[in-house]
Amino acid sequence: MKEQRAWWKEAVIYQIYPRSFSDSNGDGIGDIGGITARLPYIKELGADVIWLSPVYKSPNDDNGYDISDYRDIMDDFGSMEDFDRMLDEAHRLGLKIVMDLVVNHTSDEHPWFLMSRSSLENEKRDWYIWKDGRDGRAPNNWASCFSGSAWQKDEATGQYYLHLFSKKQPDLNWENPRVRDAVCDMMTFWCEKGIDGFRMDVISMISKDQAFPDGETNGGLYGSPTPYVCNGPRVHEFLREMRTRVLSHYDLLTVGEAAGVTLEEAKKYANADGSELNMVFHFEHVDGTPGRNNPYGKWTVEHPTMPAIRAIFNKWQTGLEGKAWNSLYWDNHDQPRAVSRFGNDSEEWRVLSAKMLATCLHMMKGTPYIYQGEELGMTNAPWEDISEFRDIEVINAWKQNVVDNHFISPEYMLACFNAVSRDNARTPMQWDDSPNAGFSTGTPWIKVNPNYKAINAKAALADPDSVFYYYKKLIELRRRNPVIVYGSFEGLLPENEEIYAFQRTLDGRTLRVACNWTDRELPCGLFGGEDEELISNYKTHKAGILQPYEARAVFIS
Ligand code: GLC
Ligand code: CA
Repeated sequence: MKEQRAWWKEAVIYQIYPRSFSDSNGDGIGDIGGITARLPYIKELGADVIWLSPVYKSPNDDNGYDISDYRDIMDDFGSMEDFDRMLDEAHRLGLKIVMDLVVNHTSDEHPWFLMSRSSLENEKRDWYIWKDGRDGRAPNNWASCFSGSAWQKDEATGQYYLHLFSKKQPDLNWENPRVRDAVCDMMTFWCEKGIDGFRMDVISMISKDQAFPDGETNGGLYGSPTPYVCNGPRVHEFLREMRTRVLSHYDLLTVGEAAGVTLEEAKKYANADGSELNMVFHFEHVDGTPGRNNPYGKWTVEHPTMPAIRAIFNKWQTGLEGKAWNSLYWDNHDQPRAVSRFGNDSEEWRVLSAKMLATCLHMMKGTPYIYQGEELGMTNAPWEDISEFRDIEVINAWKQNVVDNHFISPEYMLACFNAVSRDNARTPMQWDDSPNAGFSTGTPWIKVNPNYKAINAKAALADPDSVFYYYKKLIELRRRNPVIVYGSFEGLLPENEEIYAFQRTLDGRTLRVACNWTDRELPCGLFGGEDEELISNYKTHKAGILQPYEARAVFIS
């Protein structure tokens, strides 16, 4: 089947986490002024679209993912005038801006929730999910994604409200049509401002099983709500309604963050018929390997293996072919750094393995996402003490598992935080080798990765062999070679445990890609003498061999 052309299939997205990107006024916190000043950098990289993590008014319990006013800008980040200026400037440079849409929950400081909690009779009471307790305990055993129970008792009325994330992030009740009206109105407000799309936060979780049954504990302290909140009974109905009422009136990029999404569900969310969203982020390669049935949930120190990662991607590549569109990512603000998790962040192999990973991802079929600093090969940070962390997920997990329950040893918990905690992605963007990596003239809100003197944008821009210029080239190639966007996908060497290989074909032309995921030379018979090379992280090749972390994309004759 011939793919329908669309700008959001041809685009490359660059994600900004504003708090950690660039600080324009020296208060230690990244802001909109900082982003505006750095737009030319993103233009130079060649990305088409910026996804902005939330910039709305927020008390920052979860760094902006807890919104207290959807129509205003967070004080730390600037004003609506600053936002408008940034949007204009981005558009002037030919960059689009996609906003984060966080509507599974609000902040507990949102006026809707303040009204809702005020009394049983308040007109906004059923805008959130309130239940009576069970024998003096929570209504069911569900765990919050940020540790502890997903229910919080509210003394004013004696009932519990649901919060799948922190207790300052009460879940909205999407069963209530007034809630859906309010969300649609708010989305229209931003569309009318001229934004270019939405990344929809945990959108797979907006529809809950109205029976609210207990979840399986799986050896952990609480039950899992996943089967009852992810891909819930009415989620597709709600998204179709959103499409009809708002999305269909604009030319937007829409991507749903879809925790718990399966291939079958993704075919509905990202259906090529355009009835819901353009694409979704699935989680299989970032939380499925390893960690299945891990009583510690996401906390692990194990590295995922290439065959497991490949099996997941190949399943999605072939499974959605012609039916729905893929998004492609190695990392984001919720994940450790790509090169540390999937590659090799040692001094010897960091650059080569970062380029290898980039090749592997950008040559697959789907829209690629780059998380700020990934294009520099930024790494996880060395965390020595719990006091260095800022993330509510880490702070709560430490309290629950180490302090309150002695469920996980402090040493192992810290090792897990080093391996997979979100703060790895949130250390300041490394701009240059000046103090605080050029991120801020003040004291940064979170520590700077000490490797910034070597790894920074200024150094990358001065080095033609940098990871940065490799990403730039990948993006340029995407523009010039429709096979990268629209070609069909076929996995190769399925039995090989160390080489990730596949090919893409369009109009009879085949692009073959092979990536060595190890630090050793490996035999590889995929390339011959006549082939035309598109890109590689090595300048010279050895016949019949892939060098350590070597990646090649080659048109075969
Ligand atoms: C999403 C966001 C994450 C946030 C959570 C709750 O997973 O990406 O950062 O903590 O939703 O809003
Ligand atoms: Ca600032």
